[in-house]
Amino acid sequence: MADLFDKIANDPVLMAARMGREQGIYPYFKPLSETEGTEVVIDGRQLIMIGSNNYLGLTTHPRVQRAAIEAIERYGTSCTGSRFLNGTLELHKELERRLARFLGKEAALIFGTGYQANLGAITALMGKDDIAVADREIHASLVDAIKMAGCQLKRFRHNDMNDLERVLRECGDAPKMIIVDGVYSMGGDLADLPQIVTLAKRYGARLFVDDAHGLGVMGEGGRGTHFHFGCVDDVDLIMGTFSKSFASLGGVVAGDCDVIDYIQHHARSLIFSASMPPANVATVLACLDIIEEDPSYVQRVHVQSAKVREGLRRMGYDCGQSVTPIVPVYIKNEMHTVFTWKALFDNGVYTNPVLPPAVPPSKSLLRTSYMATHTDEQIETVLRVFEHVGQLTGLLQPVVA
Ligand SMILES: Cc1ncc(COP(=O)(O)O)c(C=O)c1O
Repeated sequence: MADLFDKIANDPVLMAARMGREQGIYPYFKPLSETEGTEVVIDGRQLIMIGSNNYLGLTTHPRVQRAAIEAIERYGTSCTGSRFLNGTLELHKELERRLARFLGKEAALIFGTGYQANLGAITALMGKDDIAVADREIHASLVDAIKMAGCQLKRFRHNDMNDLERVLRECGDAPKMIIVDGVYSMGGDLADLPQIVTLAKRYGARLFVDDAHGLGVMGEGGRGTHFHFGCVDDVDLIMGTFSKSFASLGGVVAGDCDVIDYIQHHARSLIFSASMPPANVATVLACLDIIEEDPSYVQRVHVQSAKVREGLRRMGYDCGQSVTPIVPVYIKNEMHTVFTWKALFDNGVYTNPVLPPAVPPSKSLLRTSYMATHTDEQIETVLRVFEHVGQLTGLLQPVVA
């Protein structure tokens, strides 16, 4: 009789992980022993962190930390229940009101994570008679949500508006929703929202934007990619997560009142899972206070990331279509990516290697991302290390004296 665990012995992912560990080049699940945001300690060594989603650097802001501590003191550490029953605090409702206003929508609903927000909203709204028209590079949580919803999935080539139109035409009169990321989490490029909105209207499709990486970063005051493009009313549902710019854990979906009310009463990931702990809610409220009072955080993350993007491109690195604080460095070969990651790591710079099966081998990349709180000295060091490592590994042409 076959044993369920037989697959483990021959699993290719696990075999690659074990080989990487034996050779000391395994890049994942590395425990940090200390972090102050822009610098971390791993294996007793200090590294500059350019691999986090802490875009505004607010995880260590004294006001944010104080808000979390005060919330624990006032409400305790957990709500021990779902929003549906005993797990709704007035604090959750306050955050939903604030986020609805911030995102330019009538109503907002918060979930335990961004993953659950995507799962909840998509499974609540979509079923077997509906079609999800999704960009090829949408986040994995959306793919899982679409599968769980049981609707039909039709994908279009990444940000290719001709292909999107072809797919929409194929859908005919079926109820459909276009599903895209506002900022793509690996490439750091933006969805072409103005064109997508035009096509959504032409073909009678609803539009869902996962703005996990746009919230707090894009648009005036960090209000999102829909603000960046001036199409706030044309996006039916805007989703965000608090695990990035908002220094916390949790997710949000915002839209019209009746749609949000419907999701609230049908989203199983909301109803059958405990609500956001008070400290996490208070953290997001404090982050909102800070960025609404002081626009410099949002401005500075773009200034710092532009310096690196331009510097890397000048050296000859391929940073793709990035226009955001996510700056990919395409190495385009799996093993070269691992060795470049290791060389950067050994020279005090933490990045994230993105390898197959997450991407095709020829698109292997190092995902780097920047914070408002990175100092100019840290940015200069990062550029210096990239130049040194590029010459060491042969990725960059040697400097001719
Ligand atoms: C685009 C995108 N959507 C959704 C999520 C899920 O968010 P969370 O980490 O809050 O579950 C992520 C997280 O990596 C993401 O990058």
